[in-house]
Amino acid sequence: MEKEPVILAIESSCDDTSAAVLVGKKVLSNCIAGQKIHEKYGGVVPELASRAHQENIVPVVNEAIKESGFSPADLDAIAFTRGPGLMGSLIVGTNFAKGLALGLNIPLVEVNHMKAHILAHLIDDGTPTPTFPFMCLTVSGGHTQIVLVKSPHEYELIGETIDDAAGEAFDKGAKTLGLPYPGGPLIDKLAKTGDITAFPFPHPAVQGLNYSFSGLKTSLLYRVKKMKADELETALPDICASYQHSIVQFLLSKLKKAAIKHRISNIAIAGGVSANSYLREKITEMGEKEGWQTFIPDFQFCTDNAAMIGIAGYYNFLKGDFCTADVSPNPRMKINVV
Ligand code: KG4
Ligand code: ZN
Repeated sequence: MEKEPVILAIESSCDDTSAAVLVGKKVLSNCIAGQKIHEKYGGVVPELASRAHQENIVPVVNEAIKESGFSPADLDAIAFTRGPGLMGSLIVGTNFAKGLALGLNIPLVEVNHMKAHILAHLIDDGTPTPTFPFMCLTVSGGHTQIVLVKSPHEYELIGETIDDAAGEAFDKGAKTLGLPYPGGPLIDKLAKTGDITAFPFPHPAVQGLNYSFSGLKTSLLYRVKKMKADELETALPDICASYQHSIVQFLLSKLKKAAIKHRISNIAIAGGVSANSYLREKITEMGEKEGWQTFIPDFQFCTDNAAMIGIAGYYNFLKGDFCTADVSPNPRMKINVV
């Protein structure tokens, strides 16, 4: 059997600097430096994000290599996130990857961040992996997509948001409630003791398999505006539970339609919002009811991480899909439509 490649992967598309080392589909290290700096601004400030990436990238890459037990000379390729994401953040990762690949004289492999979120399901960590084709709901801070995944290289976009992403609905909703950024995990936590029926929100009406979250966000804003500060504090768990319920119900209603329409019974979720405990619970329930097999990523592979870039890089490596040193970031990189 041929030796599996040792790949160093680098992720820097938004506000997490991450590096990982994989041997084939196995993850040996996956190090992440988060950026606290954005908390007080209620969202990611792009210029601050790129500066923090510059500070973090060398220590994070060193840590990932050290933890893997390999040395730079053992690396067979470097995979990096080319897009989509913030231009300044992508430039840091891309240039670092280029420089290191050139210095080590090894191939450079570009990775699409949205495909990587999906391919995280194929990491060999002992958990069941979906077989192709499968339907994936990718829910992150910047995207909400239903994707029919036909192979590691063939993706069909079935539906997507026409305005805010699901993660934004969580984060902007949390901001309205006076909670710090990123609000998704906080809403998730507060909702655990709340009543999902306490504050009914309107079910968004959007054509086909697309999403829209702006109405839900505005509806939350109007409700909160009518409340006094102490009233809001008491009602916080109920509001969070009801708001989260509406987002999750909406996400799953379209995913179910997509699966039925395309006769797919392997269903996955991916991206930062797939860490949401209510979404994880409800998709499992849906799978049991419909007789579908559902795939939920391990927590460490939900939010941005370089291990997912490594697995996507691995498939590109196998295909011989290398890029030249003049490659530049693509902040609006699309998922392949085949
Ligand atoms: O995939 P990700 O790390 O970054 C992007 O590619 O955008 O996703 C980040 C998003 C944020 O909006 C964050 O609030 C959301 O994922 N998120 C959650 C949870 N954990 C992270 N949303 C709801 N519940 C969670 N437990
Ligand atoms: Zn992401």
